[in-house]
Amino acid sequence: MPSVVIKSTENGPNVIMVDGKTLTALCRCGQSSKKPYCDGTHRKVGFQAAAAEVPVLS
Ligand code: FES
Repeated sequence: MPSVVIKSTENGPNVIMVDGKTLTALCRCGQSSKKPYCDGTHRKVGFQAAAAEVPVLS
Protein backbone atom coordinates (compact mmCIF):
# COMPACT_ATOMS: atom_id res chain seq x y z
CA MET A 1 0.00 0.00 0.00
CA PRO A 2 1.43 3.41 -0.92
CA SER A 3 2.20 6.02 1.72
CA VAL A 4 0.12 9.17 1.10
CA VAL A 5 0.78 12.40 3.01
CA ILE A 6 -0.76 15.85 2.66
CA LYS A 7 1.81 18.42 3.68
CA SER A 8 0.76 22.03 4.19
CA THR A 9 3.90 24.00 3.53
CA GLU A 10 4.69 27.12 5.57
CA ASN A 11 3.12 30.10 3.77
CA GLY A 12 2.43 27.90 0.73
CA PRO A 13 0.35 25.18 -0.89
CA ASN A 14 -0.89 21.79 0.22
CA VAL A 15 1.53 19.28 -1.28
CA ILE A 16 0.29 15.76 -1.95
CA MET A 17 3.09 13.22 -1.54
CA VAL A 18 2.96 9.55 -2.49
CA ASP A 19 5.75 7.29 -1.28
CA GLY A 20 7.86 10.37 -0.49
CA LYS A 21 7.51 11.89 -3.96
CA THR A 22 5.56 15.07 -4.70
CA LEU A 23 2.47 14.31 -6.77
CA THR A 24 1.03 17.81 -6.97
CA ALA A 25 0.65 21.11 -5.09
CA LEU A 26 -2.83 22.46 -4.38
CA CYS A 27 -3.53 26.13 -3.75
CA ARG A 28 -4.65 27.11 -0.27
CA CYS A 29 -4.19 30.87 -0.55
CA GLY A 30 -7.18 31.18 -2.90
CA GLN A 31 -5.34 33.42 -5.39
CA SER A 32 -4.01 30.94 -7.98
CA SER A 33 -5.14 31.46 -11.57
CA LYS A 34 -4.76 27.70 -12.11
CA LYS A 35 -6.97 26.40 -9.30
CA PRO A 36 -6.99 23.90 -7.83
CA TYR A 37 -3.23 23.92 -8.47
CA CYS A 38 -0.69 26.30 -6.96
CA ASP A 39 0.89 28.66 -9.49
CA GLY A 40 3.20 30.46 -7.07
CA THR A 41 0.92 33.49 -6.55
CA HIS A 42 0.97 32.91 -2.78
CA ARG A 43 4.43 34.51 -2.73
CA LYS A 44 3.19 37.67 -4.48
CA VAL A 45 0.21 38.12 -2.17
CA GLY A 46 2.14 37.46 1.04
CA PHE A 47 0.05 34.44 2.07
CA GLN A 48 0.85 33.35 5.62
CA ALA A 49 -0.05 30.04 7.22
CA ALA A 50 1.58 27.50 9.48
CA ALA A 51 3.05 24.25 8.22
CA ALA A 52 1.36 20.93 9.00
CA GLU A 53 1.58 17.35 7.85
CA VAL A 54 -1.26 14.82 7.74
CA PRO A 55 -0.69 11.16 6.90
CA VAL A 56 -3.64 9.88 4.90
CA LEU A 57 -2.48 6.35 4.09
CA SER A 58 0.61 4.63 5.35
S1 FES B 1 -0.93 28.43 -2.47
FE1 FES B 1 0.30 28.81 -4.17
S2 FES B 1 -0.96 30.03 -5.45
FE2 FES B 1 -2.19 29.63 -3.72
